[in-house]
Amino acid sequence: MNVFITRVIPEAGLQLLKDAGLQVKQWTEKRKLTVDELIEECKWADALLSAGQQLGREFLEASAHLKVIALNSVGYDNVDIETATRLKIPVGNTPGVLSGATADTAFLLMMAAARNAFYMHKTIIDGEWDFFEPTANLGKELTGGTLGVFGMGKIGVEMARRCAGAFGMKIVYHNRNRNLEAEQELGATFVSFEELLRQSDVISVHTALTPETEGKFDAAVFKQMKSSAIFVNTARGKIHNEEDLISALQNKVIWGAGLDVTNPEPMKSDNPLLTMPNVAVLPHIGSATETTRDAMAKLAAGNIIAGLKGEKLPSPVNPEIYTDSQHN
Ligand code: DGY
Repeated sequence: MNVFITRVIPEAGLQLLKDAGLQVKQWTEKRKLTVDELIEECKWADALLSAGQQLGREFLEASAHLKVIALNSVGYDNVDIETATRLKIPVGNTPGVLSGATADTAFLLMMAAARNAFYMHKTIIDGEWDFFEPTANLGKELTGGTLGVFGMGKIGVEMARRCAGAFGMKIVYHNRNRNLEAEQELGATFVSFEELLRQSDVISVHTALTPETEGKFDAAVFKQMKSSAIFVNTARGKIHNEEDLISALQNKVIWGAGLDVTNPEPMKSDNPLLTMPNVAVLPHIGSATETTRDAMAKLAAGNIIAGLKGEKLPSPVNPEIYTDSQHN
């Protein structure tokens, strides 16, 4: 059976597919496929391993023969899951294996924003490191502060662990449901969204992009945060309104920001956020460690192999397609 892969993935994942006797074709060009190209490539394929592609209704309806789609990501906001489910195509993602690496990135961005680190690095490159000024370049200390986690899933918990362990930060969180394990382990307190904004010194976003979270952090929300607060987003750029974020930072409504995801992506090089001292931006590299990317590729390959055997995927996004007793 044949598997089409939309990007070059780590050898660890490829090997699993080959060991399972599958024919593999990878898209090696450094650009996204158009919808028509993807449809064409998938005509040959029984399964699709997808990274960085929008999988909308047009593509899915034209590729209804696919036995499985495995995403090389935990996020699946780029896939029309409703259509895939209607067509009975199982879709898998890669939860869990990237939680630590993504939380590391959130922690890094929090620190970098708090200490103006990326900006200060650039002053050296620009030849501006001259004499010592006791009142210049001052950052924020995080010890004893409050971390507000928006979305206390696996990645949120990892970020909370790091902040509690490193800085003794108090943890508050807002989530659809209470996370009793996080409450027990970290003494985290479930609060309303308004309380989260009011109490937090750092707000870190770890929720999925959904119709409810899209544009959630806008001007009105930034206004309810502390003027000393740092906003961190490693989830999806569309969860914040970037114009409103720029304006909140320029007008000192909030103090700083750390972003691994931007709105839109890629961010343009003349974006004002890139020249603000209290802002740190990375190009969506949250899960980019060798270990994590290997683990993601292996999990995605595992989803493909299971799907092609007609078995339930190890990590299905739409388990509701399994209605029979064989899969339940
Ligand atoms: C994920 O896995 O969702 C990462 O953000 C990469 O897209």
